[in-house]
Amino acid sequence: MAEPTFTPRVFSGIQPSGGLTLGNYLGALKRFVDMQNDGTHECVFCVVDLHAITVWQDPAALTAQTREAAAAFLAAGIDPEHSILFNQSQVPEHAELGWLFNCVARMGWMRRMTQWKEKAGKNSEEASLGLFGYPALMAADILAYHATHVPVGEDQKQHLELTRDIATKFNHDFGRDFFPITEPVIGGPAARVMSLRDGTKKMSKSDPSDMSRINLSDDADMIAQKFRKARTDPEPLPETYEGLKDRPEARNLVDIYAAMTGQTTEQVMSEHAGAGWGQFKPALAEVAVETMAPITGEMNRLMADPGEIDRLLSRGAERARAIAAPIVKETRAIMGMVG
Ligand code: AMP
Ligand code: TRP
Repeated sequence: MAEPTFTPRVFSGIQPSGGLTLGNYLGALKRFVDMQNDGTHECVFCVVDLHAITVWQDPAALTAQTREAAAAFLAAGIDPEHSILFNQSQVPEHAELGWLFNCVARMGWMRRMTQWKEKAGKNSEEASLGLFGYPALMAADILAYHATHVPVGEDQKQHLELTRDIATKFNHDFGRDFFPITEPVIGGPAARVMSLRDGTKKMSKSDPSDMSRINLSDDADMIAQKFRKARTDPEPLPETYEGLKDRPEARNLVDIYAAMTGQTTEQVMSEHAGAGWGQFKPALAEVAVETMAPITGEMNRLMADPGEIDRLLSRGAERARAIAAPIVKETRAIMGMVG
């Protein structure tokens, strides 16, 4: 059978489950903007509110965080005229295809997901069914657009492998090369930005310690203070990046510096070899403030007009639906559903 060709299309999503962090910006948003601007792909970006509710969300907070996430996409440089930007629940095809994929995916596949194990923890009997099925909905997000490329941080790699498994099984079961086998786009120095308090844990919006992360809403003083207090070891920076192998906290700060300046990690090392933390941390804080301040400012400006954000999201949802609806309709037909 000839390989079908798919339009090069990017899809990615961010959960509105709290304020966004520098990890979201460097690992995801900044790279979304690069992919939008290189112009080789059609881009679809989504605030995944249906994923956020797999754990409890206060309704008023969910509304505010959805608008804040949309503002972050826009402030980072997503152009809503060019790319499609919307929130997931406004396009019912996501939930619909998610259900169809619940019937393709296997329990054993889901049970192996590290995010499920981490989030459900010891209390998995009390976790929502939605949390268990989370990766099937994520596969639906991507495949409802026949997306070919998905830029994400390192933590999403296993979910993208599962998306490929679902597409492969569907295509095989129904004897059609209908869904593309999506390529993950993961990489660069910021694929996994770590906590500022513990270099072995990822920086996360759900970490109880606010000092562990830079929030997109932090002001310049707060950013400088958090980097000043970031955990490190007493050694100065070595000559090479290789020399940071067993120094996770130090390596994380070098990675963040590289991602923000667009340098390679080796370039950062050659510029700062021998520097102590008293020198490197202020340099890092300065770069961070320079990068983040305009984005934070623009986010605040946008959030002052929630009506405008809501209009943009609804308009984005209409455009998204125009792509997803025919694909999901054909999926139903392939499965033998009438109508
Ligand atoms: P989430 O906030 O979990 O919805 O994540 C949205 C996107 O940000 C995904 O592509 C994640 O992989 C990415 N991301 C989240 N935290 C980090 C981090 N600490 N380092 C790099 N990427 C991250
Ligand atoms: N699971 C992703 C995260 O927590 C968010 C997400 C949902 C996503 N659907 C997606 C990312 C589709 C990429 C593509 O980071």
